[in-house]
Amino acid sequence: MPIRVLITAGPTHEPIDAVRFLGNRSSGKMGIALAGACLHAGYATTLLLGPVCAPPPPPPVVTQRFRTCADLQGLLRTHAQQADLIIMAAAVADYRPKPLAALSGGKFRRSAEKVSLELEPTPDLIAEVASTRRAGQVIVGFALEPREEMIASTKSKIARKGLDACVANPLETMDSAVIDGTLVLQDGRTIAAPCTMLKEDFAIWVLGELRSIRT
Ligand code: CTP
Repeated sequence: MPIRVLITAGPTHEPIDAVRFLGNRSSGKMGIALAGACLHAGYATTLLLGPVCAPPPPPPVVTQRFRTCADLQGLLRTHAQQADLIIMAAAVADYRPKPLAALSGGKFRRSAEKVSLELEPTPDLIAEVASTRRAGQVIVGFALEPREEMIASTKSKIARKGLDACVANPLETMDSAVIDGTLVLQDGRTIAAPCTMLKEDFAIWVLGELRSIRT
């Protein structure tokens, strides 16, 4: 049976009202590139893709779309158990607006009054996936960090979220065609990519490194 890979990519959009949202600049490029590289490597590949303009990879990659953190949580609960390797490159919101009491599903109207948005924390999806993992599953995160604290912060995310590995990448990576990434492993080893790479090339490189920790 081929290795089954599940990848998440793109931002989440957390609704403020029927037409507005809180989001981020994630383009989904890294996760889409990973899905292409996994397909090329012969893996059975499922991509959970957020609201991005980039086209999803062609079949046989199975692509399912999400908009919010809650949508992605539902998809992960359906798909995560079957995967051998889970790579979560999505930039999931850490906070979402609490529904505005005055709104009841419509569009918030302009007024002369100041308005405050109350935000509530979202669930940590990768931590949930890691806490319900079955034996043999490998779970890899992506940590977008200021460059000076990138490795230390990624190591603490691996411990806090229970990951096997995590790609540390600097803030400039978001919405860029290139990535200057370092693979950090659970045992503390760090493997820096040989140079700044196109995301398509980095996907092939990082899969090769992950293959060596899976065997
Ligand atoms: N992640 C997740 N669910 C969230 C937030 C993040 O699953 N609600 C995942 C991302 O997909 C990524 C990893 O956690 O693989 C690290 O994301 P990051 O935003 O760097 O970490 P945070 O937990 O949000 O930590 P911080 O805000 O301190 O950077």
